Amino acid sequence: MKADIEIRRTGAVPADELEVIRRWQAQIFGSSEYQWADSDWLLTVKVDGNFVSGLEVVERTAKVGNRDVRLGGVGGVITLPEWRGKGLASAALQRANDFICGELGAEFGLLVTGEALIPFYSRVGWERVNGPLMFDQPDGRKVTVTDWVIMVLRCNGRKWPGGEIDLCGLPW
Ligand SMILES: CC(C)(COP(=O)(O)OP(=O)(O)OC[C@H]1O[C@@H](n2cnc3c(N)ncnc32)[C@H](O)[C@@H]1OP(=O)(O)O)[C@@H](O)C(=O)NCCC(=O)NCCS
Repeated sequence: MKADIEIRRTGAVPADELEVIRRWQAQIFGSSEYQWADSDWLLTVKVDGNFVSGLEVVERTAKVGNRDVRLGGVGGVITLPEWRGKGLASAALQRANDFICGELGAEFGLLVTGEALIPFYSRVGWERVNGPLMFDQPDGRKVTVTDWVIMVLRCNGRKWPGGEIDLCGLPW
């Protein structure tokens, strides 16, 4: 199986291709009480030209313990059900790691997930950090969550500042 990984600006992805991916995301993630950020970058994994796995990256300057940090936010990590367990999402994340710390020049990657996936993300270099985590919503609310699993990728072994995390915008 040959999997092709590509990272493009989300705005440059053809509408029909994006629609297929959005449909899968809606089916896999369902609805949410929160509004989520639009991504800046879309990473796709394709086999024979068809989307099978992917993730999205948001560029954001956030605050961690009152310090400005440049983040590459990873969200929307999915593999279509029949393609799971073949290392596709791991390969996508490895590529995303290089992109975030390299081309994007971010200091850290950041994602939110559930307890069950901590080992999965840890295997590709991500580490759990403490919150609380705060983010904005369109109605002006600042939401604070204390029960989400927050994981970061430390680019070039940088030390995570620690303290309260304010995403300074919509979450991803
Ligand atoms: C999580 C997901 C992206 C993994 O995709 P994948 O291409 O199968 O990933 P890989 O093959 O690289 O790694 C698979 C590993 O993920 C882990 N994993 C996946 N889903 C898991 C779950 N629900 N609970 C625990 N571990 C899980 C397992 O360790 C698995 O290893 P195994 O194949 O040895 O069992 C895919 O299962 C998916 O789309 N899930 C639904 C959407 C989702 O939860 N996304 C993450 C949001 S933070």
